[in-house]
Amino acid sequence: MKKTFVKIISIILVLYMTLPIMASATVAGEVSRVSVTINGDSATSRGFCWYTDEKAGTDVQVAKIGDDLTKAQVVSGISYWSMEKYVHKVVVDTLSPDTRYQYRVGDSKTGVWSDIGYFTTPSNTKDEANFIVFADVQASSEENFQQAAKVLQAAVHTMPNYEFAVGLGDFVNDCTNEEWDSYFRNFSFINMNTTLVPVAGNHEGNLQWFKFNNMFNIGAADESATVTGCYYSFDWGDAHFAVLNSNDMYPMSASQINWLKNDMNASDAQWKIVLMHRALYSAGKNINKPDTIIMRNLLLPVIDELGIDVVFAGHDHMYMRTEPVKGEKVQEAETITEFWNGESTTFAVNPDGTTHILPSTAGTKRYGVNEDAIPPILENSALSRDTKDGGVFATVSLDSNHFVYKAYMVDDETGEKTIIDSYAIKKTDREPTNDDYVDLPTDIGSTAEQHGITFVVELLKMLVSYIKLLFSLF
Ligand SMILES: [Fe+2]
Repeated sequence: MKKTFVKIISIILVLYMTLPIMASATVAGEVSRVSVTINGDSATSRGFCWYTDEKAGTDVQVAKIGDDLTKAQVVSGISYWSMEKYVHKVVVDTLSPDTRYQYRVGDSKTGVWSDIGYFTTPSNTKDEANFIVFADVQASSEENFQQAAKVLQAAVHTMPNYEFAVGLGDFVNDCTNEEWDSYFRNFSFINMNTTLVPVAGNHEGNLQWFKFNNMFNIGAADESATVTGCYYSFDWGDAHFAVLNSNDMYPMSASQINWLKNDMNASDAQWKIVLMHRALYSAGKNINKPDTIIMRNLLLPVIDELGIDVVFAGHDHMYMRTEPVKGEKVQEAETITEFWNGESTTFAVNPDGTTHILPSTAGTKRYGVNEDAIPPILENSALSRDTKDGGVFATVSLDSNHFVYKAYMVDDETGEKTIIDSYAIKKTDREPTNDDYVDLPTDIGSTAEQHGITFVVELLKMLVSYIKLLFSLF
């Protein structure tokens, strides 16, 4: 009896002495900051990105659910040094549509791998898409990242069938290693287990050169510069998404605007959706700034011309949804209430205009409503409010004829989730295709290396507009 007691005490003592060492030891080549992003055709291709502290191999294994992942073919990529760590990037472009995949990233030689992650590819024939949208985590402290992660956990719980997640920019505040580590540590449950659609925010774009592109492996549009982020597009279900970089040539290069026109005109998708960081419609504190006004003047007529259905944006950390607007005027639409996916839903029928949505912030830094927002921001608003009591996420479900949007707030104190807004659109006809479009030039102003003179001219033009606007405001 006495011997057994001594044995147990000895084991406890050994464990007590060795566990802290085991816990703090880092494995050579240990993987962090894993993400899977859109990179090329959403149905067949993905970009993988991760970091290691030490030099390591750059390998990915991907297998269909049910297959043996450890026996899957190893796909290798590139690695380079950035932010005092090694960045690893791999593109896997041999995927099958409409398939659920498992994967792991790491080093096949040393056998050091990440945890297993998952993602889904869309079907080329099905019209549905289900996704989560969040904005502006923009945290600095571990505590605030944890708080924002609770909001996204509620999102995943609310829409367990989500297929991808859109992050509308400003994932971090100061772009330090500590912040990125904290972001990826707390958000790995979503970043590793879905396709992430990251939008470049100013906090990982302006004066944070190449940080956005070093953090994710995105298939940027051919014309897109990658200094301050990048722009790209993809299809999912019967929707086409263009992801803009509102840091590009502050507020937006002529090249990017022409790319957006070409990109949207070439699509025959029923739904056309723009994702961007700085908002065209917001009743937040940034809306009256000259750079935003210049961007609105440049981009709103293009959004009208292209028949964009919905624009999602961030940056202003308050909640806003507009009525459908065109030419800065509200477009009235009839409504119909009917059951869709088992829920009684009121749809705006064939609205002629764009709904601009700013789903506040998933983080803890929140702003109020700017009552002095330039007209016609507040006049065209369906709902403008602060979300001071909690973080916000949104969900979207769509098929060829329906677009159903819901926004939720997760209370900071109680964790209770409440729906704060909803909006739905029904299209009774097929959108006409634009067969006569002619591609506009996109090799202007974006890349300083190739287009030095144009770049300077574009920059000067922007500066003149900025100064003129400043004088007119004061
Ligand atoms: Fe921002």
